[in-house]
Amino acid sequence: IRVAVVFGGRSSEHAISCVTAGSVLDALRNGPEPQRYEIVPIGIASDGRWVLADLPDGGDLNLAITDGRLPEIGLPASAERANLVTMAGDPTARELTVHEPGAVPKSLGEVDVVLPLLHGPYGEDGTLQGLLELAGVPYVGSGVLASAVSMDKEFMKRLLAQAGFEVGPYEVVRPRDWGTEEGRAAVRLAVEELGYPVFVKPARAGSSMGITKVDAPEELDQAIDAARRHDPKVLVEAAIEGREIECGVLEGAGPQDPAEASLPAELRVTGPHAFYDFQAKYLDGSTEVDIPARLSAEEIEDIRGQAVGVFETLGCEGLARVDFFYQESADGGPGRFIVNEINTMPGFTPTSMFPQMWQAAGLSYPELIARLIDTALL
Ligand code: DAL
Ligand code: MG
Repeated sequence: IRVAVVFGGRSSEHAISCVTAGSVLDALRNGPEPQRYEIVPIGIASDGRWVLADLPDGGDLNLAITDGRLPEIGLPASAERANLVTMAGDPTARELTVHEPGAVPKSLGEVDVVLPLLHGPYGEDGTLQGLLELAGVPYVGSGVLASAVSMDKEFMKRLLAQAGFEVGPYEVVRPRDWGTEEGRAAVRLAVEELGYPVFVKPARAGSSMGITKVDAPEELDQAIDAARRHDPKVLVEAAIEGREIECGVLEGAGPQDPAEASLPAELRVTGPHAFYDFQAKYLDGSTEVDIPARLSAEEIEDIRGQAVGVFETLGCEGLARVDFFYQESADGGPGRFIVNEINTMPGFTPTSMFPQMWQAAGLSYPELIARLIDTALL
């Protein structure tokens, strides 16, 4: 099977996508059936140019976080930036073919399946999926609509609330709301009503990029401006007290099989972090994980059912990770789960939860990747 592994991309999660790809490429090449796959690695540079590279024999593309440095798809011009680990700087990578921004390499038509390991806008948000639909190439994961809705925290919440899932209170700050002093005053008032602390988030981003926890009104404007650097649309969410629990979902293995949930996991951030931010997620090892999460059997069944329900409500395909807050009940009965968000291409980095949760459920990392490719080809 000729598999195009696409990674990097134009979003602020470029580096995380590279790390994800590094782990997935390892799993494809060192799994039980390496001969089954012919891998075509395709990097998308931050400026949108597509870069094809041959996978060096036995070597790898240096797509890990090394001494805190984040990997980046290198173009020949940026290869001399010594602080970057780049494909272009890798002496084992053969000739690179650089394409114009957004130009789909013709050779993409010759692959059997695309594994779009892209996080965030222009990759996980339905845009790349639309391109692949037009090109008629099968790909792993959700289609155009589910990707777009899942990426946009406003529409995700609207649809989930409408389907009866619990989501937290929030305000949307659109460009026109923030464009006038009158609009900004109305936003500040609405946020006052949500109650501090709040989380200010770009509507469409990931890996906690652009997110600020805001404890007091005087910090609000700065946080909204910071989020707006990632997306002109911003969400302000009331902070939810509760333990953070995540659950993986996979599309059924056969066309008639229902989607399945992994075991849930709990994350606890230690150290000086106000929340599970970029640093805690990827850089300093300050996140503790329980797999399975310490919940009653009844609660585990509840969250697994809700994770599958969210996946189906949004029309997802292939895979997703659904993130919840858990609130214990006052009377010792089962607690309740509030949906925080869904990720249609969750991270596959060495510290990412999705592969670890499936491993705990009995599916190894290489088996998981094989299953994703198989379902895309169904
Ligand atoms: N957006 C990151 C990659 C995640 O959800 O794992
Ligand atoms: Mg996310």
